[in-house]
Amino acid sequence: MPKLIVVTRDGEEQEVTGETGLSIMEVIRDAGIDEMLALCGGCCSCATCHVHVDPNFAAKLPPMSEDENDLLDSSSFRDGNSRLSCQLPMNDALDGMTVRIAEED
Ligand code: FES
Repeated sequence: MPKLIVVTRDGEEQEVTGETGLSIMEVIRDAGIDEMLALCGGCCSCATCHVHVDPNFAAKLPPMSEDENDLLDSSSFRDGNSRLSCQLPMNDALDGMTVRIAEED
């Protein structure tokens, strides 16, 4: 199973594995990292699953939808590596990617 390095808000790194096909949000939540609120459950309507992804993997991620883009605009902490983790399916190409949980808005 592919692995992710998750960096929590206090800077702690945790290696988590996730099944292909689950979203990165589900993988982080299933690993018991509770600062990932994911309030809408993954239907791209809350932005509480905001993460900063490793730019080296950006090309391996699916393109951003207009909804995801609009929601990210509501965050004061958006940067060039921002994504909503519920919109990112786990797959082998992402093995080893670092994902930093975004600051809380
Ligand atoms: S969980 Fe709500 S937008 Fe991702």
